[in-house]
Amino acid sequence: MPSKTNILLFGASGYIGGTLLDRLLKHSKTSTFEIVTPVRSAEKAEVLRKLGAKPEIAALSEYDKIEELASHADVIFNLANADNVPQMNAILKGIRKAHAATGKPPVLIHTTGLGEVIEFAQGKYAAKTVYSDVDIEQIKSIPAAALHRNVDLVVIGADEEGYARSYLISPGIVYGLATAPVHEAGIAKKFSIQIPGLAKAALARKRAGIVGPGKAVWPHAHVDDVADIYVNLFDAIAKDPQSVGHGWEGYYFVENGEVAWYDVGKAIGQALVDLGITKDAEPTPFANEELENYWGSLAVGSFGGTTCRAKAERARTIGWKPKHADILGTIKDEVELQWAVAQKNGGEVDFTFERGLAKLFGFA
Ligand SMILES: NC(=O)c1ccc[n+]([C@@H]2O[C@H](COP(=O)([O-])OP(=O)(O)OC[C@H]3O[C@@H](n4cnc5c(N)ncnc54)[C@H](OP(=O)(O)O)[C@@H]3O)[C@@H](O)[C@H]2O)c1
Repeated sequence: MPSKTNILLFGASGYIGGTLLDRLLKHSKTSTFEIVTPVRSAEKAEVLRKLGAKPEIAALSEYDKIEELASHADVIFNLANADNVPQMNAILKGIRKAHAATGKPPVLIHTTGLGEVIEFAQGKYAAKTVYSDVDIEQIKSIPAAALHRNVDLVVIGADEEGYARSYLISPGIVYGLATAPVHEAGIAKKFSIQIPGLAKAALARKRAGIVGPGKAVWPHAHVDDVADIYVNLFDAIAKDPQSVGHGWEGYYFVENGEVAWYDVGKAIGQALVDLGITKDAEPTPFANEELENYWGSLAVGSFGGTTCRAKAERARTIGWKPKHADILGTIKDEVELQWAVAQKNGGEVDFTFERGLAKLFGFA
């Protein structure tokens, strides 16, 4: 009997993490996994238990618990928060203990994001610099003050010290409606961050909106393809850990194409026309007051005018084959979902999530 692989998955009740959990529960070796899933609510824990995971009630701020859980893990996936240094320090304390006990460095696969290489273009241009995840010197040159970088450097530091094998997954716009059992059960968000936010703003103002002229571009990947990268990486490490780069050489950008915000706005506008909400699909620039109102701050609202460009070259070397590229073709479903949510809410669009992003990203 092979011994169990102890997997600790933060974010199993999330949009991407819920999709990854499904992949792990359907993995050909799933009978050899114990998948521990920290969650905050007993109700969510019960759903996760029924699906085959081993839930633990723990918030990210319960550092002793997190350390304890991490100290028993062979592989840790973090898909809960890209900006939480204390949570990462607690994970790393646990990993240190595990390493001291076994002599083997546990695997830490942390989710960061391409927000780390954005330019604040106000929608006026597309970035010229194209980042590549196989260009180590370029990745090292990202400033320490960049978004998410504080946690990324801590994660890489643990790898450099040798007590962890660390890997960073860095998606751009993640899109598409998630359809894993946790999403169908209603315990996880079915939708992402950027496009749903723009869809909600468009529904509220009855017209699609863009920041500036919408010329800024971002790389994108479908949520199902994003989840696949974690599994490709996990499988490659399980097969031959020596053949897979880690630390600075374990950076995985996630993209399968790029899109301009204007085109996203236009597709949202067309969905609004199809719903009979407006007659004109053409997006118009948001006023600053609108950005502040919908996203709680101008800084977060202006995110839709930022730009970055990156190539996911490393993931393709470990067999990642993304299946989706048609981001604009998914937007109608995204808008219809947000419209249905608003209808259930008496026609009101709820911006609680968007207004919380400043805190989540460490801006507030
Ligand atoms: N979606 C994107 O476009 C995108 C792009 C780049 C990077 N990322 C990064 O990828 C990660 C996952 O994103 P997502 O869109 O899947 O997020 P999500 O749907 O909001 O899921 C977040 C997960 O983290 C858990 N969590 C959050 N705060 C917690 C706390 N204080 N204690 C315990 N659990 C907590 C949530 O649990 P509850 O169920 O209890 O809320 C949920 O399971 C994030 O770090 C995000 O920054 C996302």
